[in-house]
Amino acid sequence: MEDDKGEKLLVSKIRDGTVIDHIPAGKALLVLRILNIRGSEGFRVAIVMNADSTRMGRKDIVKLENFYPKFDDITKIALVAPTATINTIRDYEVVQKGQVEVPKLIEGILRCPNPTCISRKSGEPVTSKFILVSRQPLRLRCYYCGSELTEDDVSKQLTGE
Ligand code: CTP
Ligand code: ZN
Repeated sequence: MEDDKGEKLLVSKIRDGTVIDHIPAGKALLVLRILNIRGSEGFRVAIVMNADSTRMGRKDIVKLENFYPKFDDITKIALVAPTATINTIRDYEVVQKGQVEVPKLIEGILRCPNPTCISRKSGEPVTSKFILVSRQPLRLRCYYCGSELTEDDVSKQLTGE
């Protein structure tokens, strides 16, 4: 609630949609990018950067009107912004609030960096699978070949850099 005071001066509440709150300061644009939201979709988007937070010092917030992230979107958010909370808004009320969490097994979202990995062979119906080794700092290990991904590798992949 205290968090809210400064933010209210900048952006109003939304009627329906999603508020991604408690994003690490500086990562709001990264979150929008991995969700593939560019502003040309037609729905309203509000971005607050470096808002005051009692819990985090500074945080970013993204408000998306009439947009509801899917399961894989939430996993992607967790991978780049592990402190984020997802608030679902209906008729101005927060009807659902959840803390994102990187799952212990991530299937089909990321690509193994090893070109000879079975998950990379063309024609093989093998979906990529990564096991969570460490949350902080983020480290994932390919289930098939043991290759590892760092936080940096993950954000690069998710933003297509
Ligand atoms: N929010 C919004 N529009 C609404 C309702 C809420 O933009 N109609 C935003 C609030 O501004 C806040 C977030 O959604 O950034 C979560 O709302 P709420 O749960 O009411 O705030 P807090 O209790 O401060 O949340 P937390 O305990 O997660 O910090
Ligand atoms: Zn592999």
